[in-house]
Amino acid sequence: MKIKVFISFSILLFCVFIFSQCSETGKEKVETKKSDFGGFESQVKWGEHLVTIGGCNDCHTPKKMTPQGPVPDESLLLSGHSAQMPKIEIDRKEIESKGLAVTQDLTEWIGPWGVSYSANLTPDETGIGNWQESNFITAVREGKYKGMKNARTLLPPMPWEMFKSMSDDEIKAIFAYLKSIKPVKNLVPAVLPPVSANQTPAETDKK
Ligand code: HEC
Repeated sequence: MKIKVFISFSILLFCVFIFSQCSETGKEKVETKKSDFGGFESQVKWGEHLVTIGGCNDCHTPKKMTPQGPVPDESLLLSGHSAQMPKIEIDRKEIESKGLAVTQDLTEWIGPWGVSYSANLTPDETGIGNWQESNFITAVREGKYKGMKNARTLLPPMPWEMFKSMSDDEIKAIFAYLKSIKPVKNLVPAVLPPVSANQTPAETDKK
């Protein structure tokens, strides 16, 4: 009888030991959770970091002019090409056939593809306010306008073919960050097709 009690007690101790080991492993998991966000304290902070190193502000944030050149206008962070900006007078036909032109704030681009305008990435309804996370993944991975599968392909210079190699978690972190910034109302103009050989720029602009 004594032996039986001793054996049961040993089994109990063994179970307690195994259980404590399991909960230790559990604890470790909780402690290393930070690395789920690329080593940053939150998904939003990780997204902010990815936006910084991804250079998104270079094209998507309007600039203020300083004697040293253009600097991002923080009050309009990531709000895209300003709808208020006057149209630039330029010989599109020549530019589109021979080279590239870009406004000093890097938000309007003229090239063989026509004219493209950096998108509003703020959580206003004129930006990504109505987007689901899945739209954002489709836009970045497949280069689709508004993140809709059947939409047109995004024009240069949006470097989505580089960004598509980001992991799902990285793209989701960027989306979480963009949803957390100040919404800015700004309806970016629609892209323009290239001026074709038999049309004058004025005729194409009327379209
Ligand atoms: C070299 C300039 C450039 C850089 C850098 C850039 N973009 Fe873009 N992006 C553009 C342009 C221009 C468009 C608009 C293209 C079009 O309408 O066809 C665009 C469009 C987009 C769109 C689609 C918006 C819509 O309404 O469909 C998303 C999303 C986007 N960019 C996210 C990003 C993110 C995130 C980064 C940084 C990781 C980034 N972009 C960096 C120029 C750039």
